Parts: sequence; structure tokens; C-alpha cells
Amino acid sequence: MSRYEQLALQLQEQISSGVWQAGDKLPSLRETVRRSGLSLMTVFNAYQLLESQGWVRSRPQSGYFVVPVLQAAHYSLPLQPLQPAETVDINAFIFNVLQAGNNSDCVALGSAFPDPSLFPQHQLSRSLIRVARQLSSANTDVSLPPGCADLRRSIAQRYAAKGMEISPDEIVITSGALEALNLSLQALTQPGDWVVVESPAFYGALQAIERHHLKTVAVATDPQRGMDLDALAQALQQYPIKACWLMSHCQNPLGASMSTAHKQQLLALLTEHGVSLIEDDVYGELYAGLVTPLPVKAWDNTGQVLHCGSFSKTLATGFRIGWVAAGQQAQAIQRLQLMSTLSTSTPMQLALADYLSAHHYDKHLHTLRRTLEQRKHIFYRAIKREFPDVVRVHYAEGSYFLWLELPTDCCATELYWRALKAGITIAPGRMFAAGEQYRHCFRLNVSLPWNTVSEAAIKQLATLIDGQLALV
Ligand SMILES: Cc1ncc(COP(=O)(O)O)c(C=O)c1O
Repeated sequence: MSRYEQLALQLQEQISSGVWQAGDKLPSLRETVRRSGLSLMTVFNAYQLLESQGWVRSRPQSGYFVVPVLQAAHYSLPLQPLQPAETVDINAFIFNVLQAGNNSDCVALGSAFPDPSLFPQHQLSRSLIRVARQLSSANTDVSLPPGCADLRRSIAQRYAAKGMEISPDEIVITSGALEALNLSLQALTQPGDWVVVESPAFYGALQAIERHHLKTVAVATDPQRGMDLDALAQALQQYPIKACWLMSHCQNPLGASMSTAHKQQLLALLTEHGVSLIEDDVYGELYAGLVTPLPVKAWDNTGQVLHCGSFSKTLATGFRIGWVAAGQQAQAIQRLQLMSTLSTSTPMQLALADYLSAHHYDKHLHTLRRTLEQRKHIFYRAIKREFPDVVRVHYAEGSYFLWLELPTDCCATELYWRALKAGITIAPGRMFAAGEQYRHCFRLNVSLPWNTVSEAAIKQLATLIDGQLALV
């Protein structure tokens, strides 16, 4: 990184952390030259870079001023509180979209995974090599559920560091969170049962509901605050709900995070109706700010919350290691796993246990969170600059998604196909609901580095949206 980029990054961090607020004037070029010891040209280039990324605006003869903070957008139409569906038919659509976009040459703005270059490949390789050297017939043997004891202990220690008492015996290691979530759903339901999901929801939930022949009530979910609890109460009154599947932090696709009070109210409501919660917390470590938020599981005294986590989004996508802290259902989940996939890859579990024992993870997470937040700001500002004003951008802190809304007569699936032809993927809103209510929305992955490729992709998307708007 050159000196002017370093200075720009430093100033970005100061703006993000509130040292400089919207409307503040940054120190003059001369003052910064004096304080930093850098040349006038270096400082000028840094300020220009900040301006091109939308952090500051220059006013002739006055200096550089911080641009107003990100504003929460509102949905163009009020959400329907409840969206019931007796059947879900989404697998074919999801498969087609994911397969068509599965091309490493594409700019992967539709991907659910963060930029893999943000992962500590070198340290993970070292753990893999160390484990490979120590492999013996004893530890390459299949490790039956609940999985490798060292890894379960490390995960329990991470809960303990947040003040949560989760016994390693309650934890079942799975093949990614997806297996944890699917097994949890299977443990709690029979075909034909009703399940609450968010609206919009992670498509994996809808796929699981389709696969297990379940019925679903999607409950309105606010892009900032999360699930509408009045609507949830109504769903619990009207339908014989067996389970609720949701994300209390960094919801996919919205990015929404619930407040502590909201989480406690949610748990009280579910407890009152005897309904278990499947808490999908795969982005829980990717919060913004300095305070670690607790999942709903933290207040669960009865074992009715099945808390599903993963290393796929924070450390090692391809290892496919996740877990569920399954409370009352720990035994049932082990039995279901034994009948389906038997166990999770032993060498991968051992390598992760080795990596976690070296205590690099928290440092890595700290850097990852900061980088993701910075990249999200940069993309957000570029999108606000390039996209037509009628496009609403829902910005929520944490993780690495932006949820965008076109005018309601535009179809984001059409935009998906056009963008794909131009070598760019997006995640169309149709993926996140059983019905058509989000056909005009799409999710962007903004974890990618901001460079000429991503900048060109955002400009190209803006042109495609302009083209689509001209047709409606
Ligand atoms: C919200 C959500 N839950 C679960 C998963 C699955 O996680 P894993 O890759 O650990 O199976 C994903 C992956 O995209 C996700 O976005």
C-alpha cells in the first residue's frame, strides 16, 4: 500500500469511528503535511482518494468536509406482516441461479461468501500440515457424532468467553452450518408442520422447508431491526407453529441485527408458545463496533434454542465445518447425523482445533471485521454515487451484504441474467422468499476489494439498471 493510500485508510478509520463526523472539516492539507511529515502531494492524493470514494467532499476555497453518514432506507411499500405458504417450490430456481453464476471469471457480487483472500490461508495451511504429520490410523478413523472433542471444547471456550455456559456435550460438529440447520429442523418437525421464517429469509431455510415437506409462515423482517414481533405473535396465535428459524445478527440477506431487548422479547414469546428456535448465527462474529453482541441462545435457560454456527464465513469456506449447540435436542441430532452423513471429516476438524488452539482466531476476526466494514462503506458510497436515485439501498452494520430495492415494476431476476452476460453476479430477491414479493430486490456482496474491477462492475450494474428503468 502506498503512503497516500495508508493516510486515506487512516482517515477513513477516523471517520468510521466518529473522530470526524458528517459536516466536519478535515484538517487542511497544510496542517496534515505538518503533522504527518508527508509531502503535500501525498496528502493531496490521499484527500483526492477519499473524495473519489465518497467519504469527503471538497468545497472550493474551504477544504474537505465529511459527507453525511449512511442513512437507513425505508421499504417503498409496507411489508405484509405474515406471508403463509403451504408449499415451497424454490429449489429449482436457486439451483439454476447458483449454477449459472458458478464461474470464477465473474465478479462475484452475488456470492454468499466473503472475499477468500481475507482468510488466514498461511496459518490454516500450517495447521493442516501439522495435523497431516501427526495423523495415525487412530485419528483418521471416522469420528462419530458429536465430533472431535478438542474442537467441541474450543467452541465451548469461545461461548464461555462471551459469558455463555455451553457444555461441549451439547455441541455437535457438522458439515457446515447448513447440515446443523437441516438436522435441527428435522429434529423439531414432521412433514406437514408449520415453521416460522423471516421475510425475506436465507434461501437455505426455504430449501430445507421444501425438502422436508413443511409449511411456512414468513414474518415481516425490518432491514434494520429484524423480525416484527407483533407479527410473530400473530403467527403464533393463528398457526400451530413447531419451530422458528431466524438470524438475530447480520441477517442474510438484509444485514439486520436485533437489539438485546428485542432478542429477549422474542425468546419470551417463543417460550410462552412452547416453540423452539433454530438460531442461524453464521455471521454472528462479523458484527460492527466494539461490543460483542450475544445471540438469543445466551438467555436460553430451558435448552429450547438450537444455536448454529460455522467457520465458513469467518475462516475457512472449504473446510465445511459448522456446529450446533443443540440444547435438549443434542442426542436427537446426533442420531439423525448418524443416519445421514455419519460424521464430519476428521482431518478438517483436527486442523481447525489446531488453528484455534494457537489463539490466532480473535486477532484475525478483529482485522476481518474492520476490513469488511471499510469495504462496505466504500461500496455503499460508490453505489449511492453511481446508481439511479430511485434505487433504495438498505445499509445495516455488520457482515458484508447490502440489500437493494429497485422500483417495484422492475425485475431483479432480469437484472441478474443481464449482469451475468456482463460477467457480474448478483443475488436476486426471488431467492429469498417463497413468493414474488422481493422480485424487485437484490443482495450484493460487498466484501470484495475496491479496485478497477469492482468499480467497473458497479458502473456496469448502474448502466444495466438505467437500461431496465427506461423499459418500464
Ligand atoms: C445465512 C446462512 N446460513 C447458513 C449458511 C451455510 O453455512 P455453511 O457454509 O457453514 O454451511 C449460509 C451460507 O451461505 C448462510 O448465508
